[in-house]
Amino acid sequence: MRIFLDTADPEEIRRAVAAGLIDGVTTNPSLMAKVAGDREPAELFLEICQAVDGPVSAEVVALDAEGMVEQGRRLAQIHDNIVIKVPLTEAGLGACRTLRGEDVSVNVTLCFSPIQALFAAKAGATFISPFVGRIDDIAGDGMELVGQIRQIYDNYEIDTQILVASIRHPQHMVQALMIGADCGTLPPKVLYQLLKHPLTDRGLDAFLADWKKLGRDL
Ligand code: E4P
Repeated sequence: MRIFLDTADPEEIRRAVAAGLIDGVTTNPSLMAKVAGDREPAELFLEICQAVDGPVSAEVVALDAEGMVEQGRRLAQIHDNIVIKVPLTEAGLGACRTLRGEDVSVNVTLCFSPIQALFAAKAGATFISPFVGRIDDIAGDGMELVGQIRQIYDNYEIDTQILVASIRHPQHMVQALMIGADCGTLPPKVLYQLLKHPLTDRGLDAFLADWKKLGRDL
């Protein structure tokens, strides 16, 4: 399963890459707005692509298919690893179909139902992004949706990759792995929650305390 970092912050990306924790990055307009400052979006996307050797999702902000395709074509020129993110709307699916016809990778985002995921696959989506946390937020079951999409894609041998998004806590990630999702995107906070374990820290402290008693260096 590929792990992506859900951020537009190049420093966070470089940190996670240095530890070998991530295979790519997802951004969205809110994440971009948080860190862009004076930088042009294209400049920031390029910096992100230079920081990680893997897919980098860059989202369009137009609402009509023509505008999305035009923005998608421009974003795709920034770097070979750019994946164009389009919303799961009628226009977004149209843009997905056009961009896929030009061999541009597309992540269809804001997916909240299994049939939406089927439509995205029929439009040729490279990735489908079900938003599990936002479904849980309204008292639904986000992981149930991921399971349904997995089953439907397997039943019909659909090769669109399931990219679990809006992951809010470590358990979401474990469940996504058990279901057999292809990728998950994690905010930095959850990535490091997954890495850390109190028994690892406690074990290391004990080893080093014992070693100190020996009074030698390696
Ligand atoms: C995914 O591509 C989105 O950027 C992200 O996972 C949304 O997460 P949120 O619901 O925590 O904002």
